[in-house]
Amino acid sequence: MDCIKLPDQLRAQCRVWAKEGRTIALVPTMGYLHDGHMSLLDHARLRADKLVVSVFINPTQFGPNEDLDRYPRDLDHDLAIAREHGVDVVFAPDPAAMYRPDHSTWVEVPEMGKRLCGASRPIHFRGVCTVVLKLMHLVRPDVAVFGEKDWQQLAILRRMARDLDLDVELVGRPIFREADGLAMSSRNVYLTPEERAKAPAIHGGLLEVRRELAAGTRDTAELGRIFAEHLAGKLPAARVDYASFVHPESLEPVANITAPTLLAVAVFVGKVRLIDNILLEV
Ligand code: PAF
Repeated sequence: MDCIKLPDQLRAQCRVWAKEGRTIALVPTMGYLHDGHMSLLDHARLRADKLVVSVFINPTQFGPNEDLDRYPRDLDHDLAIAREHGVDVVFAPDPAAMYRPDHSTWVEVPEMGKRLCGASRPIHFRGVCTVVLKLMHLVRPDVAVFGEKDWQQLAILRRMARDLDLDVELVGRPIFREADGLAMSSRNVYLTPEERAKAPAIHGGLLEVRRELAAGTRDTAELGRIFAEHLAGKLPAARVDYASFVHPESLEPVANITAPTLLAVAVFVGKVRLIDNILLEV
């Protein structure tokens, strides 16, 4: 396994593979790899001859008051995991290698990027789209694998790929959860032990909504109240940033559930903002 730091070197390696007729899978990450990432790597490993994982804490997707500086990092640990999971190349560039001081080109899917997380993180998806498109250009992957915990991110990237005619298959993989239901996230390490113990209530609230839907409630305002009540009972310190019922592809709001609908939530547990979602089917 190689660890490549320079974009040109990554491009050169991927071109060699393409000339040899090898297929390539890409798993973009910000590192601090956990079991959820490992499941993405394992799936990607099966999908192509060569596997590239990027480990890059992309500064352009963090707002001024967000956690860029304290985002957890441990490249040695990530390299060990990548090796164990059959990765061929870890791409771990410095920010200066990815963005020149006068970087001035951005990729945006503006409407979808304003919804849900975009309301409180206005530049986030512009940064995500820009870095993912840059990675796609360097690697030219046949397939790129993402986690469905970041459902909005995947929906936006799919729209970007469609609109810009990218020749890549985007694959979403199911949310990986701790035994108590908490969705795995690198940010879970910020939780205090007490917050961590109660945080699975977010997933509990999503399941409660699914039960209510099965019992016949279709009105999303009512279902939203049920989520909020569940959380207030089990995790009173939580503050709901949003709990929105949306079309799974367009992310347009849904008032009554008559077709598959995504319930996406972002909840502050203390200072930590956690996201989760569930696909509701009637
Ligand atoms: O989901 C993430 O970890 C990041 O948003 C991504 C896709 C690696 C882009 O920086």
